[in-house]
Amino acid sequence: MKRVRITELRPGMKTAEDVFSYNNQMIVPKGSVLDDKMITRLEFYSVLAVRIVDEEDGSESEQAPEPLSDGEISDNSSYSQKIKNSKQFKKFEESFLENTESFKENLKNIAEGGAEIDSRAMIDSITSLIEGDMTGISVFDMLHNMRQYDDFTYMHSMNVSLICNVFGKWLGMSTADIDIITLGGLLHDIGKLKIPDNIIRKPDKLSPAEYNIIKTHSLQGYNILKDKNIDDNVKQCALMHHERCDGSGYPLGLMGDKINMYAKIVAIADVYDAMTAARIYRGPLCPFKVISIFESEGLQKYDGHYILTFLEHVATTYMNNRVRLNNGMEGDVIFMNRNQYSRPMIQCSDKFVDLSREPDLYIETFV
Ligand SMILES: [Fe+2]
Ligand SMILES: [Fe+2]
Repeated sequence: MKRVRITELRPGMKTAEDVFSYNNQMIVPKGSVLDDKMITRLEFYSVLAVRIVDEEDGSESEQAPEPLSDGEISDNSSYSQKIKNSKQFKKFEESFLENTESFKENLKNIAEGGAEIDSRAMIDSITSLIEGDMTGISVFDMLHNMRQYDDFTYMHSMNVSLICNVFGKWLGMSTADIDIITLGGLLHDIGKLKIPDNIIRKPDKLSPAEYNIIKTHSLQGYNILKDKNIDDNVKQCALMHHERCDGSGYPLGLMGDKINMYAKIVAIADVYDAMTAARIYRGPLCPFKVISIFESEGLQKYDGHYILTFLEHVATTYMNNRVRLNNGMEGDVIFMNRNQYSRPMIQCSDKFVDLSREPDLYIETFV
């Protein structure tokens, strides 16, 4: 039996014990052979590591697929490849990486050196990434294809900030409000800079005490920001982005109406970004899978209006895209189902497949 961090889990690995969320809800039972969806689910519940049956223990766990070598085409990479080859993506990637460097510097100075925060400059560095020619490619496509870079806090924070910015527009928020969530997304995990590196990057078993230390990052983030000259709601985003509307979050276990509204938005962007992160065995996860997990498990945890707006727009981003179903059929997404965004209508040549009426079928990947 060994402890495997969530980022290193692969389909085919077998769980050696029941896995519970931090409010004791069983997420994956002992003896489950993990698949993509289960790994995503563990991520959804912010599980950090899982005990896995060792191959040497004589377990019959299936062989995990070999990692993809550079240039090898993963299952959904023809779609990814199209995006990656586009001019817009190359430009986006270049500016994103350029901005990451200065953002890193900036964040460290704020957390360690007590530097003041230039809100305007920080917000502008994010919005500049999505101005200009983005025709045909959404920010989500861009982000999904940037996943090969393994950078714990910095790139994740920029992703969350970008998602918040777009999300704010979907919600019809004012520019001032969009600024708050854009900055809130950028700074939400700043407290992680105070967590010892040996815990953040620890490859094996995290003790309950270490896990509790990781959970202090929201309060530590708030403490870094509390005397800064920035909007108070941005500080609340750092403090409350792990709170959940059903009271299952931390640090305070607040219920919905007590959670800051901007923090509720950052929370959705945060989990979405964590769930869509690539794994060594596959490229970016098909957003319809993520939407279905939110639909089955997220409606109580997140603000109803925010989460439904988010899922509707993410799903709509992928209208007219070509997808492959789990039975091998291919077709185009032509119609969204308002009751279940993860199950749209698909046109497969002359046949229409309404996924809301076909419980055994689901979208596996883009093609
Ligand atoms: Fe966090
Ligand atoms: Fe985060």
